[in-house]
Amino acid sequence: MDTHEFVKKYLVDRKGTHCSKWDGLQEKFGRSDLLPLWIADMEFRTCDAIVDALKERVSQGVFGYSFVPDSYYTALDHWMQERHHSSVPREWVRFSTGCVTGIAWSIAAFTRPGDACMILTPVYYPFHNVVTNNHRRLVTVPLHYEKGYATMDFDAIEKAIVEQDVKLFVQCSPHNPMGRVWTEEELDQVLSICARHHVLVVSDEIHQDIILGDKPFIPAAAVKGGKYRDNLIILNSATKSFNLATLLHSHIIIPNPKLREQYDAFASGMNRTEVSVLGALATQTAYEKGGAWLDGLLQVIRRNYRDLKAQFHKELPEATVCALEGTYLVMVDLRPYVKPEDIHSFIQDKCQLAVDYGEWFGEGYQGFIRLNLATSPTLIQEAAQRIVHALKD
Ligand SMILES: Cc1ncc(COP(=O)(O)O)c(C=O)c1O
Repeated sequence: MDTHEFVKKYLVDRKGTHCSKWDGLQEKFGRSDLLPLWIADMEFRTCDAIVDALKERVSQGVFGYSFVPDSYYTALDHWMQERHHSSVPREWVRFSTGCVTGIAWSIAAFTRPGDACMILTPVYYPFHNVVTNNHRRLVTVPLHYEKGYATMDFDAIEKAIVEQDVKLFVQCSPHNPMGRVWTEEELDQVLSICARHHVLVVSDEIHQDIILGDKPFIPAAAVKGGKYRDNLIILNSATKSFNLATLLHSHIIIPNPKLREQYDAFASGMNRTEVSVLGALATQTAYEKGGAWLDGLLQVIRRNYRDLKAQFHKELPEATVCALEGTYLVMVDLRPYVKPEDIHSFIQDKCQLAVDYGEWFGEGYQGFIRLNLATSPTLIQEAAQRIVHALKD
């Protein structure tokens, strides 16, 4: 399906559906007349097979206790093997209601209050809060940023680990908001530093399927043939790829049996760790039947990124549209045109846009904005045009 067909078939008007992106503008930004490009979900209806499977299941009208069938694990393993050349044996898999919850539970299961947890900034802002709200010490190490491209500063990472006695590293791979799909060499380096210093790695791979360029996504569990598996907790789900966030179903994947035992001991104290029957069904159906839909979606995101880059390049050549190897969330550096301290009033009052602001993700990024490209090309063009016009006025 080409871009045009995909948009025509799946684009929906979400206004008036209690959706955060459109109907939550007033609460988040203090006004409701903004064009929203914030938050990380989509304007696209999920694939037909998922909707059909849910309808059929809902029509039973019974939502009592149930369990995840064998076929679920087969579907997950096939998807991971086919898309990412990495197997996920059933016994590694645990469930949670979301990847951020997965981070919180990993922190609770594997560290103690006061322990240091490291993140590489800028990064998805709940990474910061989930550490501090769980009374752990937040250690931030800035990514190296140059001309729209972020890389890891391995010396700074190792120094922080040693000096701050870091116990756990929350990795974002692919990276939100810097759009990086880390190479195997990069992952090998950071994972080997962590292994050397006994730092447990929680790898949030929720964006694993949104890969836009030639660079393949490498699951942390597959780096160098699985060399770091024993030191890994992997978090992923179908929710970002298939727009299923509120079905509240995601994976906590733990290859090391000792860590699994430790995790299970923690989880047993939480009363209930059952799964949402609709979340599990939607996820299984996504993995069994959603491949073509996802490929169609990726074409739309690629096109939106291309259009955005071209429009900025032509009209605002000093702005930097950052790399987008993965995810549908792109950072744009507007500092050559807008003073960082004026960015909110410029975006909100002059352009009437709602975006995620760079400084929400980490220090030093005021003047950047993050735009959500999982929407119609028309909306992206309109947003870019508003920025161009506001600057030219
Ligand atoms: C890296 C990352 N992790 C987790 C989430 C949220 O996941 P969940 O809704 O499953 O907690 C997001 C959403 O944007 C994200 O970008």
